[in-house]
Amino acid sequence: MTRHLLRDDDLTPSEQAEILDLALSLKKDRWKLKPLEGPQTVAVIFDKSSTRTRVSFAVGIADLGGSPLIISTANSQLGGKETPSDTARVLERQVAAIVWRTYAQAGLEEMAAGTTVPVINALSDDFHPCQLLADLLTIREHKGEVAGLTLSFFGDGRSNMGHSYVLAGVTAGMHVRIASPESYAPRADVIADAEAIAARTGGSVTLVTDPLEAARDADVIVTDTWVSMGKEEEKLARIRDLGAFKVTTETMAAARADAIFIHCLPADRGYEVDSEVIDGPQSVVWDEAENRLHAQKALLVWLLRQP
Ligand code: CP
Ligand code: NVA
Repeated sequence: MTRHLLRDDDLTPSEQAEILDLALSLKKDRWKLKPLEGPQTVAVIFDKSSTRTRVSFAVGIADLGGSPLIISTANSQLGGKETPSDTARVLERQVAAIVWRTYAQAGLEEMAAGTTVPVINALSDDFHPCQLLADLLTIREHKGEVAGLTLSFFGDGRSNMGHSYVLAGVTAGMHVRIASPESYAPRADVIADAEAIAARTGGSVTLVTDPLEAARDADVIVTDTWVSMGKEEEKLARIRDLGAFKVTTETMAAARADAIFIHCLPADRGYEVDSEVIDGPQSVVWDEAENRLHAQKALLVWLLRQP
């Protein structure tokens, strides 16, 4: 059966580790694998804006010997005139894989159910699993092992990034703390899924409403924009509700002295994070952005190898 990456827990702990190993080896020897030689084409579709995802998939597909086809939904038939499954039936006869950044997770599920080629979630309202592969790679590079570390996420725990940290973090055996007001806590079904994974990996997920308590002795401090794409109308309410969860030098001081700071970017400096932190000595955000390339190449190689 065709494998897809629609949410972080589509990968088992050993599959996630295998992809991260492959990413590290591709980072050391960037052009060593050419599974898309031909070139075969990969469709990369955007319903929402992007810099990192667009560039890293385009460059990564080319590195693997393939040809990226970047499609903007605004000038395609998807997103109104044609369903995701009909679109997939057209694409699958011509492309090796489909990468899609969209709003509803249900659209990705429909596309994956209706096609024979791998479908990759390049960010939905609910999850951002490609970002998490890059983040885990970054943590592994800077900290050695990932399992057993404490990662504290600050802000909108109900966002795609909050949900992905919960699922991918426990898959990697991490202790994930989500620091948010109760009304921005991750969805209950995502927490339940994460707890089932954590019982097997030794990880854990904890919801915390006191930001300094969440930061205490953490190994990794993480935040993301308070205003995800599609939530622009809620901007003022979100600034009011999430203000206490800004990552500042005080947050970093409560964490372990060797803690790192990561952020998927783009950052709203002065809102979810102060410039002193994102530009400070503990920040590894530029490594993290580069790692999108290596992680997604490894993901593509791995998916194309599956029977
Ligand atoms: N982090 C991330 O996905 O960035 P873009 O929105 O620029 O792709
Ligand atoms: N949570 C953010 C991530 C951007 C990469 C958003 O969805 O806009």
